[in-house]
Amino acid sequence: LEFCDQTITGKTAVYGVIGDPVDHSMSPLMQNAAFRKLGIDAIYVPFSLRSRMLEAGIIGLKSLGVRGFNVTIPHKMHVVEHLDELDHKASEIGSVNTVVNIAGRLVGHNTDGVGALNTLNQAGISVSGRKVLLFGAGGAAHAIGHAIAPMAAEITIVNRNPARGKRLMARLAKIAKGKVSFVALKHTRLERIVRQADLIVNASSMGMANKLDVPIEAGWLQSKHTVFDIVYEPTETRLLKIARGAGARTVNGLDMLLNQGACSFEIWTGKPAPISSMREAVDRFVEG
Ligand SMILES: NC(=O)c1ccc[n+]([C@@H]2O[C@H](COP(=O)([O-])OP(=O)(O)OC[C@H]3O[C@@H](n4cnc5c(N)ncnc54)[C@H](OP(=O)(O)O)[C@@H]3O)[C@@H](O)[C@H]2O)c1
Repeated sequence: LEFCDQTITGKTAVYGVIGDPVDHSMSPLMQNAAFRKLGIDAIYVPFSLRSRMLEAGIIGLKSLGVRGFNVTIPHKMHVVEHLDELDHKASEIGSVNTVVNIAGRLVGHNTDGVGALNTLNQAGISVSGRKVLLFGAGGAAHAIGHAIAPMAAEITIVNRNPARGKRLMARLAKIAKGKVSFVALKHTRLERIVRQADLIVNASSMGMANKLDVPIEAGWLQSKHTVFDIVYEPTETRLLKIARGAGARTVNGLDMLLNQGACSFEIWTGKPAPISSMREAVDRFVEG
């Protein structure tokens, strides 16, 4: 990002994102594009923060008067205990991706769920009455699970850590329209569950940076499936590639990134987010 047209002064407001890793994050690109578009004297920077330093990091951000920050992998759930307050939605979900500093009080919000739902709505994909297979039980899966549970006909959670998966199942069961169940990641029933599902959402880190793979085989997918992978680096994960090859409907993580980022921007500034400028910044980067 070029800052030659921006002067940083003592009055410039500082925003950022905490995570580990954080070098994959496209949030600095899109949030800085939004600040510049609206002429807001602010800057958004990445803060790499190890889990064992989370508490110290949060105290540091608060002490330094950082105005707000996003929270990414792996801190979305652990950050909750270090904040002064949560809004209603974040408290219900148990995970935070957006923090605003209001006169020294850190207030947590969650925009991942609404970001995911807006993305599906914009793509003309309905969750109502659908059998959903949700990979993951971390911060993003909690938010998306809470957003879709009141509409989906059925939700099956698949996660590596069974205790975490079962905890999410119990939370979603309280608000779900249909049945919520859990199966372990390496479960032998996975093929049958994939074949029976109609909406598959990867809200885990599997597929990120091409390092791990969602254990779905190409032959299990058909054109009746819709596959939404919230991982956006790479833009087309292996899961999306095989889904496209099977003729399934696919949605990648970039639109959700924009939608949740736009909601964060609005929480911080109280102004409508300039989405087209944010999208342009992300597209320019992705296209290299
Ligand atoms: N597009 C967007 O706007 C957007 C928004 C939010 C997040 N994301 C992406 O979504 C992913 C998850 O984010 P998060 O904040 O939910 O992270 P998180 O809270 O750390 O949760 C990570 C999830 O991935 C699973 N996982 C991690 N490593 C794994 C492995 N080696 N094998 C199997 N499962 C593994 C974890 O399973 P265990 O419980 O077993 O550890 C957990 O379910 C990240 O890639 C993030 O970049 C994208």
